[in-house]
Amino acid sequence: MSLQFKLQPASKISGEIRVPGDKSISHRSIMFGSLAEGTTRVTGFLEGEDSLNTLRAFQAMGVQIEGPVNGKVTIHGVGMNGLKKPDVALDMGNSGTSMRLLSGLLSGQAFDLELVGDRSLSKRPMKRVTDPLALMGVLVDTAEGGCPPLKIHGGSAMKGIHYDMPMASAQVKSCLLLAGMYAQGETSVTEPAPTRDHTERMLTAFGYPVKTSGHTMSLQGGGKLTACDIDVPSDISSAAFFMVMGAIAKEADILIKHVGINPTRTGVIDILKLMGADITLQNPHEVGGEPVADVRVRSSQLKGIRVPEELVPLAIDEFPVLFVAAACAQGQTVVTGAHELRVKESDRIQVMADGLQALGVDATATEDGMIINPGPIKSGTVNSHDDHRIAMAFSVASLAAQGEIVIDDCDNVNTSFPTFVELANQVGLHLKTNT
Ligand code: S3P
Repeated sequence: MSLQFKLQPASKISGEIRVPGDKSISHRSIMFGSLAEGTTRVTGFLEGEDSLNTLRAFQAMGVQIEGPVNGKVTIHGVGMNGLKKPDVALDMGNSGTSMRLLSGLLSGQAFDLELVGDRSLSKRPMKRVTDPLALMGVLVDTAEGGCPPLKIHGGSAMKGIHYDMPMASAQVKSCLLLAGMYAQGETSVTEPAPTRDHTERMLTAFGYPVKTSGHTMSLQGGGKLTACDIDVPSDISSAAFFMVMGAIAKEADILIKHVGINPTRTGVIDILKLMGADITLQNPHEVGGEPVADVRVRSSQLKGIRVPEELVPLAIDEFPVLFVAAACAQGQTVVTGAHELRVKESDRIQVMADGLQALGVDATATEDGMIINPGPIKSGTVNSHDDHRIAMAFSVASLAAQGEIVIDDCDNVNTSFPTFVELANQVGLHLKTNT
């Protein structure tokens, strides 16, 4: 039986919490640590299914990795050309980041291999990576419509390219930069709008120079990575659920500790502040090239806004919960320029609009966003379509609901936030599961 969440209304949010490690940074710490020379020690690693799939993939390619134990992982790097051909297809589970980044990284290996995913990942677009990889000289076979599984033909002579990305995607940018490490000459990527820059920051920390000039990132092929220690900050995308809890609860004062506040990720804070949220950053400092701070949120009366399009890529994973915030605001909220939401773990525009409507909210899906006219949130049942962030977003809605909210298909919360239920109840939600 699939996991179901049942939430009774709640009104008070309080406490001091630390949410799990950043998913994007956790993935990259395993990838770069595995290819580095020397031993990389990671702390704060996200022990969720997505980053564990990346870890298992490198173990299957012969890398010795110890842990995770309480967020600690030790990786014995094998060097740029030390991976071994895995015996079986590498299973990326639900994780688009694993599949897209590894398609670039592994196209530089001497062996052929196959990347497979779960039902959701098997429907997601991969041509966005296989097309530019083909320009670099790599042959990757896909299933119908450019979807997984991906069969990567290794041993190609790769050449650096310049690529103008048609969409703002950190996964595509990262895929090409990682492939570029194995290509001859320079690989450069221009993004139409800034996207998360964890790849650039972490490659630099591992001693691989990456140049950033305006919206273009470039590197030279043929370099190497040198092991270093990585302290993974808490994931702002997981903290976002608690920020919105603090912003919409009648009574709230919550402190979320050690949150990554990389400026390419803080769109959620900017958008919530534009809506009138009371958010302050305390104790700002840096860990391993990434800025972190404690985030304090107190209750407020949110107002509806037209979300500035330039903030969309900087908050791309936070829209499910931002739609819930909009449903609790005063006045209309309009989101545009967010077409990418349609190709995430679910079609997050349609699935969120359907769920909000099931709870009596006037939400209209548009091609590239949503129009939300706030109103009372009634009791009802929503389907998360196996999407972790949809399940968690509707849990937050219980703070403004008139009755019980039931959320189906919540197992995938484990992909990014295995301790969500425990932490949500700790701060004041009334969340029960059917297990
Ligand atoms: C990620 C990039 C984003 C984001 C995903 C993680 C990354 O995807 O949605 O959760 O770690 O690079 P896109 O690059 O497809 O927008």
